[in-house]
Amino acid sequence: MYTANEKRYGKMVYNRCGKSGLKLPAVSLGLWQNFGFKSSFANMEAMIRTAFDLGVTHFDLANNYGNPYNGSAEENFGRILRDMRGYRDEMIISTKAGYEMWPGPYGDRNGSRKYLIASLDQSLKRMGLEYVDIYYHHVFDPETPPEETALTLDAAVRQGKALYVGISNYNRSQTEAILKIFRELRTPFVAVQPSYSMLDRWVERDGLDKFCLENGLGLAVFSPLCQGLLTNKYLDGVPADSRIGRGETWVGSRLDEKMVGRLNRLNDVAKSRGQTLSQLALSWILNNKAVATVLIGASRPEQIVENVGCIEHLGFTEDELKSIEEILK
Ligand SMILES: NC(=O)c1ccc[n+]([C@@H]2O[C@H](COP(=O)([O-])OP(=O)(O)OC[C@H]3O[C@@H](n4cnc5c(N)ncnc54)[C@H](OP(=O)(O)O)[C@@H]3O)[C@@H](O)[C@H]2O)c1
Repeated sequence: MYTANEKRYGKMVYNRCGKSGLKLPAVSLGLWQNFGFKSSFANMEAMIRTAFDLGVTHFDLANNYGNPYNGSAEENFGRILRDMRGYRDEMIISTKAGYEMWPGPYGDRNGSRKYLIASLDQSLKRMGLEYVDIYYHHVFDPETPPEETALTLDAAVRQGKALYVGISNYNRSQTEAILKIFRELRTPFVAVQPSYSMLDRWVERDGLDKFCLENGLGLAVFSPLCQGLLTNKYLDGVPADSRIGRGETWVGSRLDEKMVGRLNRLNDVAKSRGQTLSQLALSWILNNKAVATVLIGASRPEQIVENVGCIEHLGFTEDELKSIEEILK
């Protein structure tokens, strides 16, 4: 039987998710990759336990996470949870639906009531849970009226299947439109999940971060390390045992000579702060006041330990921020 390390709340920083009552750990663990049926169960279990022992109370999933993309991550997470049941009230578990999941028009990419309710029931079953803490619509659907998606997420809360709701891959104006409906319904809509990193700053250009800050919504940022580019892994080439080396991501196409030079200069800034590159990249995102948590991915427990270490140096001097801007220009 798993016994949690009782010191786990010692160091972690917990941020309020927007203006809601919900607190999220500054660093959360996402199960998109490395938690499917092709991964080692012992390694997955070690990653979840390592994270939880460090105060990472939030685990981010979706119906299609894992390999194969048919609920394998949720199923494996459910198996791991069986031995951690006593800790359910110390955990925030999120899932999502919206991307392609099962054959036919009802499990296809959409935001309909038909899809979102069926998918949530499936997710709860796979994970062996009675409710999730946050249920997200995974990606904006231009065809389903936002009223339908909002009412469906609201219904999930009223049915006791979700405590809070969120949206992911929505831009500022799409977020503004659905927020109006959630406000009318009084839905506990608390989280917005976009991609955001030093190398992917569309949320700043779009004004999504500012909008969320002004409207009491918290950002749960995904791919904060740009899928591993912002780590010390690619400073001298591409290791075979890496997401790019295994051909599992498109971000390898960004790894030209200029990028390697930029990553090395960022690494110098990190060293001057007593951090690693991944820690610098995470601290930098967490310095944006709109951000409640960074959702990191990992392929082994040591990466989680390293990344959680970012919380030991969160603030930045003006000079540090300026040098980083200069490098990212
Ligand atoms: N809402 C959405 O549409 C959406 C989309 C994508 C992701 N997400 C969420 O965000 C989570 C994180 O996404 P992501 O996996 O792209 O995040 P990421 O944190 O940017 O990248 C994670 C990958 O970087 C490498 N890495 C991490 N820490 C490292 C370290 N200290 N040293 C060396 N390499 C390190 C590992 O890859 P290696 O395999 O190379 O070791 C790891 O799998 C997902 O699990 C999911 O929960 C949501």
